[in-house]
Amino acid sequence: MADADVFEGPLGEIDLTDASVWERAAPHEWLNRLRRDAPVHWHEEADGPGFWAITRHDDVRRISTDPDTFSSWVGGPLRLDPPPEELEQLRMVIIGMDPPDHRTFRTIVSKAFTPKMIGRIEPALREETRRVVAELRDDTRCEFVGDVAARIPMWSISELMGVPEADRQRLYELSHCLIDDQDPEIAPSPDTSVVASAEVFAYADAMAERSRGSDSDDLTSALLAAEVDGRALTDLEFSLFFIFLIVAGNETTRTATSHGLITLLEHPEQLAQLRADRSLIPGAVEEILRWQPPIHHFRRTATRDTEVGGQRISEGEKVIMWYAAANRDDSIIDDPHTFDIHRTPNQQLSFGIGEHFCLGANLARLSLRIIFEELLDAIDDIELATPPRRLHSNLINGIKELQVTYRPT
Ligand code: HEM
Repeated sequence: MADADVFEGPLGEIDLTDASVWERAAPHEWLNRLRRDAPVHWHEEADGPGFWAITRHDDVRRISTDPDTFSSWVGGPLRLDPPPEELEQLRMVIIGMDPPDHRTFRTIVSKAFTPKMIGRIEPALREETRRVVAELRDDTRCEFVGDVAARIPMWSISELMGVPEADRQRLYELSHCLIDDQDPEIAPSPDTSVVASAEVFAYADAMAERSRGSDSDDLTSALLAAEVDGRALTDLEFSLFFIFLIVAGNETTRTATSHGLITLLEHPEQLAQLRADRSLIPGAVEEILRWQPPIHHFRRTATRDTEVGGQRISEGEKVIMWYAAANRDDSIIDDPHTFDIHRTPNQQLSFGIGEHFCLGANLARLSLRIIFEELLDAIDDIELATPPRRLHSNLINGIKELQVTYRPT
């Protein structure tokens, strides 16, 4: 089926919770149908009470910019209702908070992510990216996810947080187990993520211990020095914040990098344009993010009876925003099923919008720009050696393995 096709069967057959569907590709024919005929659609779920599936750009914007009505705190940011203890922890993480607490926590970390601060790490980030990409020159084949896409984001977030080099690989593996736990290859049993979680908490504790006495100006020290309502963060609040930043910094940029390469290989004429004119790269990055949002959805819970797009929503009901659908809404985006690096404006919503707009967006954009600049300098004639292997997940649009061949320039 082509992405622009519309599924004309019964709406009840649409199952956006099915990770094996997303593993093949975003189900655009379903999303197109929902956006056209049922943009606020009551979606049954086998593992919960059901949710409203949101597929229009305007509605995602409306919900994300009204945290008083659509809460991240009441039920957390993820589709499944977590057990009470887990919910309590999610509520201690920035992404699971509502104003006014959310604003307080966001202020603590937002200073680390301003364009000025990110600009400060740019030279080192470029140097590291060059180092990673230079290794490709010794060969004509690589596994792009592990050899390139995963390394740069882990480096950036580790630099920002002050994670020592020796610990980075293990922390990366742990973050993977925590967030990609729907995939049996990554988390073969429920124990995998429980064990990973215990290890990562222990690591966060050790990190706090080490940083407390130091005078470094990294984000870990900023978190430890921060005051919320006149008190320091508790150990648990610190650990959760630390872990969330590691996971958020890693999974998404890696995914965007891998999808970026696949998408450019699928559009060789646009890849050739990028090679000829590097000033097109920032536009290409936005379009890659629109085309393949690294995160499929986030959730809110209605705090009162309300209405979206003419549909009544009752207090306590879940709404799930599907970014791949919003990014292809033709009432906002012209010719949305065409990948076009020249698209301007590009109103992609892959970083969310409003209250929880991605704090790492500047860093992610910069990383992606540098990666593609350096990659195009270093290698040519890139081709897929085998079909990419995708993550089994309805949350993360991940690529597990991407074997490519190329010619060093
Ligand atoms: C291409 C890369 C990325 C994508 C697509 C992405 C996507 C998102 C989205 C959709 C949200 C909004 C969540 C919501 O509305 O509930 C978000 C929030 C967030 N992201 Fe990102 N992200 C990316 C990279 C990063 C990086 C590199 C970092 C950190 C180093 C980061 C840190 C955060 C944080 C801290 C939040 C929570 C903000 C808040 O709750 O106020 N992200 N991200």
